[in-house]
Amino acid sequence: MKNIWFPYTQIKTMKEPLQIEKGDGVYLYTKDNKKLIDTVSSWWCTIHGYNNIEINNAIKDQIDKVSHVMLGGLVHQTVIDFSRKIASILPGNLNHCFFSDSGSVGVEVALKMAVQYFNNIGQIKTKFISFTDSYHGDTWKAMEVGDDPDYHKAFKGDSIPQNFYVEPGNIIELEKILKKHSTEIAGFIVEPILQGAGGFKIHSRKYLKDARKLCSKYDVLFIFDEVATGFGRTGDLFVASEDLVPDIIILGKALTGGYIGHSVTVATDEIYNKFYSDSPEDAFMHGPTFMGNPLACAAGLKSIEIFERQDYLSKIKNIESILLKLKDIDHPLIKEVRVIGGCGCIEVKDNKILEGFKDYCFSKGIWNRTFLDFAYIMPPYIISSDELNYVVETFKNWFEKEQRDVL
Ligand SMILES: Cc1ncc(COP(=O)(O)O)c(C=O)c1O
Repeated sequence: MKNIWFPYTQIKTMKEPLQIEKGDGVYLYTKDNKKLIDTVSSWWCTIHGYNNIEINNAIKDQIDKVSHVMLGGLVHQTVIDFSRKIASILPGNLNHCFFSDSGSVGVEVALKMAVQYFNNIGQIKTKFISFTDSYHGDTWKAMEVGDDPDYHKAFKGDSIPQNFYVEPGNIIELEKILKKHSTEIAGFIVEPILQGAGGFKIHSRKYLKDARKLCSKYDVLFIFDEVATGFGRTGDLFVASEDLVPDIIILGKALTGGYIGHSVTVATDEIYNKFYSDSPEDAFMHGPTFMGNPLACAAGLKSIEIFERQDYLSKIKNIESILLKLKDIDHPLIKEVRVIGGCGCIEVKDNKILEGFKDYCFSKGIWNRTFLDFAYIMPPYIISSDELNYVVETFKNWFEKEQRDVL
């Protein structure tokens, strides 16, 4: 394994990773045939679980036609269909799809788009506002609009320029910054409603609606990073809706049902039209090699079809009702339990109480991975009520039986 550089970890001291031989439905199977419920959807993306026959077949059919082709000067039917479908399920006039190969790059694209949008109308605006504890990916500019020291600390002293950070929910603070600096700010980028990697913090829709008004008033683009929240995670298909339309939205992770790394940055007509002109100077100079990859588009199209046909939103409602039982867990070291849609999180006061939790879950046939002060569940939406109740019960037993006397 020495040839693999693993993420977010000290490789010298890390425990050997589990080797997965097979995934099927909500289950992962290790090399030594241990069957585990995946409670984190492989970093929140495998919404249909594993080995979905319909998506497998969609990819196989596409492979027999063409598995990759560049979008520079060429196009293919699957990306035409996929972009049309994405535009049709997004609210307002979010109609123009720019594909990339990961969420981080999708965020880079959104930020570049925002800066160039102003450039194309004769304004120089290069700064951004984002939330405290925000996470938008690991590439450079995405990291810059993030506010999470765990991801930044290795780069201290270097040139990560300071953007503006605001506390989610504090509309007065937001307006103060906009009033003073809007001539230099291109966009306000948010993980709407639910901040993921920053600790599963939840803020209100009302705040986002007020922020939408302020962004319009001060001529700053409102950018929704729905890489994590998109496709049902907060209980709605997207946080963006007919009464809350951002200028740019980024979707990733579940975009392909978690099958293939891909993202899409979608802009409104107003943004797009400022790039659409007789001048080559106005063109958007970005183009990932694998943008609009046919296999990713085929997987994504089928994923959305299944999501709609099998009424995943009602599945997510059921998941939420079960996750709410996390709130009944009683332990003095629990700081707060937050649940929304397909996400439930226990924040603890001292993460010592989470030491050994992963192994405990493993012993109970569950794959779970805590980080910092958070133990969370973000299951594939196909998880059954029985399976999810069992997971919640296992969490409860950890706190109330295994760690009852730990203080
Ligand atoms: C809100 C958000 N934006 C962007 C990203 C980056 O996506 P990727 O890991 O596909 O680059 C993530 C990943 O967790 C995320 O949660």
